[in-house]
Parts: sequence; structure tokens; C-alpha cells
Amino acid sequence: LNLAAKSARKLYLGTATNSEQWNDTTYFNILKNNAEFGQVTPANVMKWFATEPEEGVFTFQDGDIIADFTKKTGKLLRGHNCVWHNQLPDWLETGTFSAPELAFIVSRHCFNLVNHYQGHVWDVINEAFNDDGTFRSDIFFDTLNTTYIPLALYAARAADPKAKLYINDFNIEGIGAKSDALKSLIKELKSQNVPIDGVGLQSHFEVGGVPPTLQQNMEEFVALGLEVAITELDIRFTALPPTPAGLAQQKADYETVVAACNAVPKCVGVTLWDFTDKYSWIPGTFPGQGDACPWTDEFVKRPAYEGIIEGF
Ligand code: XIL
Repeated sequence: LNLAAKSARKLYLGTATNSEQWNDTTYFNILKNNAEFGQVTPANVMKWFATEPEEGVFTFQDGDIIADFTKKTGKLLRGHNCVWHNQLPDWLETGTFSAPELAFIVSRHCFNLVNHYQGHVWDVINEAFNDDGTFRSDIFFDTLNTTYIPLALYAARAADPKAKLYINDFNIEGIGAKSDALKSLIKELKSQNVPIDGVGLQSHFEVGGVPPTLQQNMEEFVALGLEVAITELDIRFTALPPTPAGLAQQKADYETVVAACNAVPKCVGVTLWDFTDKYSWIPGTFPGQGDACPWTDEFVKRPAYEGIIEGF
């Protein structure tokens, strides 16, 4: 994938990964190839359960494996994530905390993560909204209302002034209630000078389901003074096996997403939520669905791969 030949701009193409997959040499050889991927996001090891398994005890070894790999290979690293309702450690999931206690816990967690991994992009806030645009009820919102959001962003900024700070979510890729709510939040944060640099559009799509307003929506986020990124792209079939027409549609969909990012100067790049079905999260989370990645589980490139190339 020679991006330089395809485009004057250099979007990155990246992928999520878990280092347990790296002893699969076919997998690892594709992952490390800088002609394929210029960016990596740890799929799990920088999440709260993995980085603060006991209250106030921070463990960075597993995350460091991925950070060291990106350093050695010259790839960009995306920190994922500081605050999310899922994959929390038991002590946080089952504990009861007053608002001041949880405010301290959130700031300490964000500060320590972003401080440890200097100079990177961070999904500071992940999945804060419901699909109707209201805030998600979780331990953070229920205890702190929306104040946990600026709190996490301030702590991240204090930990590393060079880090780009993002809010990341799904179903905000097209214009609608959820992206409208996020735009209102961004305006509010900006008006209060809360540090916020970007919006991550997860982009877990179904074949044929890329929102037609994707590019316009990204432009609207950029107009608020942000950069944007496609952070977790996969495009799944809801029924298997795919037909040839389905594979052609999937190829067109991958191209549409990459081309939309390419058309928006402040869209910095596209990250796949792993590049092969062998390690995709889709079959485990959406039973009966899948074939969502550009590489099959046997590392054969689907038409989708060509779609990505054409989108660049
Ligand atoms: C997923 C991982 O891929 C799985 O391995 C894990 O079991 C659950 O989380 N949105 C996100 C990602 O922001 O962190 C999620 O990753 C997929 C949905």
C-alpha cells in the first residue's frame, strides 16, 4: 500500500492489535510491514482493567509491549482509552465512591496513563453518549454528571501538553441526534477552554450501511476547530456467507470511508479494528455476523482491500 503514490497527503492506515496474536507469524509480518500499516491502536491493554487492576496500582507492561513495537517500527500509536464504561476493573465496577473520590480516581487514572505514554494521541473519553444523544448512564455520569469529561481532559493535558486529546464514539459517523449531541458538547468544552483536539469516529459499519453524511459530518466537526479520525473501522456482513454482490458492496463501502477521510484535510487517518477476521471482535459480539475485515481469517485479501487502496 504505497500511500505516497496514491495521495499528496499522507493519511495513515492503521490497525488495532493484541500482542498475544504476534506469535502468529503470518499476522505479525503483515502488521509490522510499514507498507501496510503506519499506525497501531492497542485493542485492549491500555484499558482501565489492564492499567489499574487494583486501586491506585498502575501496570504498564502489556501496553509497553505495543508502545515499544510502534517506536521500533516507526508507527504512530493511539492510546485507547482513558475513560470508558466497559472493561473496568472489579474494584471500580463494584465499589461505591463519592463524587470527590471518583473525581480523584478519574484524574489520577487519566494523568498516569497519558503521562506514561508521552507524545501520543489519546481517546480520553470513549462512548459517553446514548444513541438518542443523551449522556450514557454509567458510574462516571451517575456519580459526576458531565463533569468527568473536562476533568479527564484537564488531567490528560496536564500529563502531556503535546498529546492530542480525543472524544471517541460509535454511531456518530453520520449526522443525527448522537453526533448533534457531541457537537453541542464540543462547543461547550471549547467555550470553557477545556482542552479537546479531536473526535474519533469508530465506524463499526454494516455492509451497505455507511452513512451518506459521513464526510459532511466530519467537516462539521472540523468546523468546530477539531481534527477527526476514523478510529475502529470494520464493515460486517449481517448474514454469512457473503455473496459476490455483497463483497463488491463491502469494497465500495471501504473505499467510501477512506475517500471521505481523504477529502477532509483535517481527517488524519483510518484505523481498522484489526485487519483480519481471524482476530476480529465482530463474531464474538454480533453472533452470526462477520467477514468484516479486509483480510480473511486465512490472510487472503478481500475486494475490500482494493477499496481501501482506491480510497487513498
Ligand atoms: C473491543 C475489543 O476488540 C475486544 O477484544 C474486547 O473484548 C471488547 O472491546 N469499541 C471500542 C473498543 O472502543 O475498545 C472495543 O474493543 C470495540 C468497540
